[in-house]
Amino acid sequence: MTIDVLTLFPEMFTSLNHSILKRAQDDGKIVVKVTNIRDFASSPHFKCDDEPYGGGAGMVMLCEPLFNAIESVITDKSKVYYMSPRGKVFKQAIAKQMSELEHIVLLCGHYEGIDQRVIDYFNIEELSIGDYVLTGGELPAMVVIDAVARLIPDVITADSLDSESFSSNLLEYDQYTRPAEYKGLKVPEILLSGHHANIEKWRKNNSLENTKRNRPDLLG
Ligand SMILES: C[S@@+](CC[C@H](N)C(=O)[O-])C[C@H]1O[C@@H](n2cnc3c(N)ncnc32)[C@H](O)[C@@H]1O
Repeated sequence: MTIDVLTLFPEMFTSLNHSILKRAQDDGKIVVKVTNIRDFASSPHFKCDDEPYGGGAGMVMLCEPLFNAIESVITDKSKVYYMSPRGKVFKQAIAKQMSELEHIVLLCGHYEGIDQRVIDYFNIEELSIGDYVLTGGELPAMVVIDAVARLIPDVITADSLDSESFSSNLLEYDQYTRPAEYKGLKVPEILLSGHHANIEKWRKNNSLENTKRNRPDLLG
C-alpha cells in the first residue's frame, strides 16, 4: 500500500520512522510519501492561506496549492481523505477497509481548514479521529497511518489482531507478564495454570467486564 500525505508541515512525519512502522516501511509493506503543499503554491511568497469569504476568524487554505498537490499524487486507484473534525469518525472497521486499498491520500488541514471547493471537486471523504478540535490534520493523519498499517498482512502477527479491542464488540482482556508476583501484586492464578480452555474462559469474562465498565455502548 502507498500512503501519500499532503501537509504544510512534512517534518512532523519523521515520527513514523520508528518501531513497527519503520520496519513496515523498510520491508516495503507500506510506502509513506510526504509532500509539502507549499511546494505547489505559485505566489511569490508561497502563500497557502487567506481570509475566509464572509468574514470570521482565522485563515482558510487556498484552492490552488491544494488542487496542484492533490493532482500531483492521485491516480485512478487513489482514495483521498481530508482529516477533519467534521468527518465520519475513524474506527477500527474503517481502518480495516482502508488497509485493503492500494493507494490512499491523506490531506492535512490547518488554521480554519480548507476551501470547500477542494473537497467537492475531488469528491474527498472527510475523516475525524474524534470529537475534539486539533490545530492541524498531521496528528490525525499519523493516527490513521498507524492504525491502517498494522492491519496490513505481516506488519504484525495475525494472532495479535484476533483478540484485541474492537476486533469484535469487546475490549481486550487484562494482560500480565513476568514476574508472577511484584510488590505483593499477583497475576491471576488461572493464567499460570496452563489450562488453555479455562484461560480462554477467564479472558472472555474479563473482556466482557472491561467492556461493560468502559464502553457499554459497544455491547449495544
Ligand atoms: C483548527 S482545525 C479546523 C476546525 C474547523 N474550523 C472546524 O470547526 O471544523 C484545523 C485542522 O485540523 C485538523 N483536525 C482538527 N481536529 C481534527 C479531528 N478531530 N480529526 C481530524 N482532523 C482534525 C483538520 O485537518 C483541520 O482542517
